Amino acid sequence: MIVPEIFWIPAYAGTTGSWFYSLLQEALFSLHFPKGIALALVYVDDLTEGMVLAEDLFTPKGFFVLAEGMPLLSDHLQRLNGWGVVEVAITDTSLGEEYQQLQAEIAKFVDRAEGYLYRRFVHNELDKEPLATIYRHSVHRYAERFQKGWDPAEYSIDLLPADPDPDSTPLSVPQLLLGEVELFSLPVVYARIVQSINDPKSSSLQIAEAIGKDANLSIRLLRIVNSPAYGFSEKIDSVSRAVSLLGTDDLTNLAADVKVLQQFNGIPSAMIDMDSFWRHSIRCGLFARILAGHLCLPGEELYFTGGLLHDIGRLVMLERMPAQYTRAIAKGMAEHLPIYRAEQETLQTDHSIVGKLLAMRWRLPTPITRMIGGHHSPASAHYAPEACLAHIADFLAHATGHEVTLVNEIPPFQLKAWEVLNLKEELIAPTIRQVDAEFRKLIKFFFKGSAD
Ligand SMILES: [Fe+2]
Ligand SMILES: [Fe+2]
Repeated sequence: MIVPEIFWIPAYAGTTGSWFYSLLQEALFSLHFPKGIALALVYVDDLTEGMVLAEDLFTPKGFFVLAEGMPLLSDHLQRLNGWGVVEVAITDTSLGEEYQQLQAEIAKFVDRAEGYLYRRFVHNELDKEPLATIYRHSVHRYAERFQKGWDPAEYSIDLLPADPDPDSTPLSVPQLLLGEVELFSLPVVYARIVQSINDPKSSSLQIAEAIGKDANLSIRLLRIVNSPAYGFSEKIDSVSRAVSLLGTDDLTNLAADVKVLQQFNGIPSAMIDMDSFWRHSIRCGLFARILAGHLCLPGEELYFTGGLLHDIGRLVMLERMPAQYTRAIAKGMAEHLPIYRAEQETLQTDHSIVGKLLAMRWRLPTPITRMIGGHHSPASAHYAPEACLAHIADFLAHATGHEVTLVNEIPPFQLKAWEVLNLKEELIAPTIRQVDAEFRKLIKFFFKGSAD
């Protein structure tokens, strides 16, 4: 059973006057469970010793781990992450003063969060579902960040590098992808891996040999395969073992992910924060993969790669025509346009089109190409499920991540994409929390930074 997201509501009740908190307050107090126990769902990192389980606890794979009525001990707290548990139903009488106080503290920052988010969501109608629910989560998360002392960077147009020739014509899409394309080509090793995988005669040993030719790729593949996201109980310490354990699709995707992340190091930092760019991309990949799982779409890992690469066209444009791209950023900032619209108005194309053509050039699987090409305009991809999924994943990644970019407005949400996928509002809360949990684990393998 999916339980409404109520865990922060008690502290907010009556403090903000916001309509959605009043509604949720009512939901909280009307929520009674079969045995008459009022409970709150508490995020795994917010659990403390002594909180009492309101329900039997199972891992996401359905294994029973702890019984209802059990008070949490420090040993349990340490193990919960390893069990893959994201949230725990706790009896509200055992929440503890510390937890209640923290929620009261967070409530003080709700107005600031709403003020900050107003501009980001300016292209979206927040009184309609599922946007109202997504926005509610966004407000809570930003209030939490402000409470922790987060101070978002403020960008000014004055800090943008000057365009040396404001009259120069931007490159066309074919020009963008012509000429020195090494930077945007997946390297030779990747090509060899794909070739080996696609050749029915090649053995996993030959594939492992191809990967083994690139020490860096081998090391990073092993690190990723051994990451908690893959959940293998034993340590995998050889490339050939990794190859035999992973499906060929996973392997191709992993190789692409690893190689792509190593590229694009030469883009001016004044134009884009690469760390934020990849964090947003990873988050989008996770949303796409987890939603694909809920929708029972085959090949979930492929959707992660599609999400990871969805904005890759931006990097091509930034790298190949930084001066002209400045115009798009300046227009977006001045007129509060989402970046893809500012690109269309100044560069006569946008990063979804550039990215799609790059993906085709890389011969990436069709669903990935559709995700990249359709993430801002699922209509242009005839509402193919992959395009709709990428659109929703991108929106959720914007709404829940706190990466600050020069042009920070969230693109308009397209309800038809949500309806085509037949997604339900009840999925939003658990999906956001699952993405959070996986993001924390994954980010350590992609970067050395923190997950916040
Ligand atoms: Fe985009
Ligand atoms: Fe995006």
